[in-house]
Amino acid sequence: MARLAGKVALVTGAASGIGAAAARRLAQDGAAVLLTDRDPAGENVAASLAAGGTSVAFCGHDVTAEGDWVTAVGRAVAEFGRLDILVNNAGVAGGNHTLLDHSLEAWRQIMAVNLDGVFLGLRHAGPEMAAGGGGSVINISSILGKVGMAGAAAYCASKGGVTLLTKAAALEWAPLGIRVNSIHPGFIDTPLVSNALAGRDDGNEMRVALMAAHPVGRFGLPREIGDAIAFLASDEASFITGAELVVDGGYTAQ
Ligand SMILES: NC(=O)c1ccc[n+]([C@@H]2O[C@H](COP(=O)([O-])OP(=O)(O)OC[C@H]3O[C@@H](n4cnc5c(N)ncnc54)[C@H](O)[C@@H]3O)[C@@H](O)[C@H]2O)c1
Repeated sequence: MARLAGKVALVTGAASGIGAAAARRLAQDGAAVLLTDRDPAGENVAASLAAGGTSVAFCGHDVTAEGDWVTAVGRAVAEFGRLDILVNNAGVAGGNHTLLDHSLEAWRQIMAVNLDGVFLGLRHAGPEMAAGGGGSVINISSILGKVGMAGAAAYCASKGGVTLLTKAAALEWAPLGIRVNSIHPGFIDTPLVSNALAGRDDGNEMRVALMAAHPVGRFGLPREIGDAIAFLASDEASFITGAELVVDGGYTAQ
């Protein structure tokens, strides 16, 4: 029997990269999955998964908009009857800003998606998960929620916020049967990384240097994060809550 059979998942940022891979893996493991994204291309990802015989749907959703969260959680329940798994994955890199010239506007935009979006996800999915007897929340932080990087202050602050928001939620919700964990990917080959590198004059050199910073000598694949997400979503992780699962090819072991 598929390990997530009977479970219902909501994955944000599922039109691309890690979110799309997570939705695919959760669906392959038997979960019904509501893919959400502000990018309507998520509809195509859902259609390709549905063509494979899985139980999926797509809902337009900006994670910074509280009303959109009400709609998305309501859609998951209306479509599939309950909500057991929330993957707070939507995020933005936010560009290269040194602190000496960082605008407040750019700071707020990054925090709104990467940190406020996770808070709103907890706030709106949590009651539904509690009503169903519990579940699993997986928040996608980053290695940059554990260590710093020059030029990425707001991104680091937002992901560090996700790291500890996860632990506070895990403590509050342990009595409700809701496990809350964070995943800390190293650099993963997705549009978020390729677009960030393409926007720099030294993008090629930076790519080589970043790969070398991973002891395994390469970037990770979206599937490798999807696999970790599915593990934390499953009952195989039943005693894991408030944890940081680092999936980084050794980047932070140094
Ligand atoms: N790729 C990496 O190297 C890496 C490393 C560590 C952590 N992460 C994190 O993983 C998550 C997924 O990143 P990815 O690499 O797959 O990026 P991606 O750009 O491929 O996908 C991100 C998705 O989030 C969506 N999104 C952005 N803002 C949104 C909003 N306000 N509301 C709803 N959807 C929104 C985008 O439309 C996109 O489909 C992000 O939180 C990112 O910070 C990525």
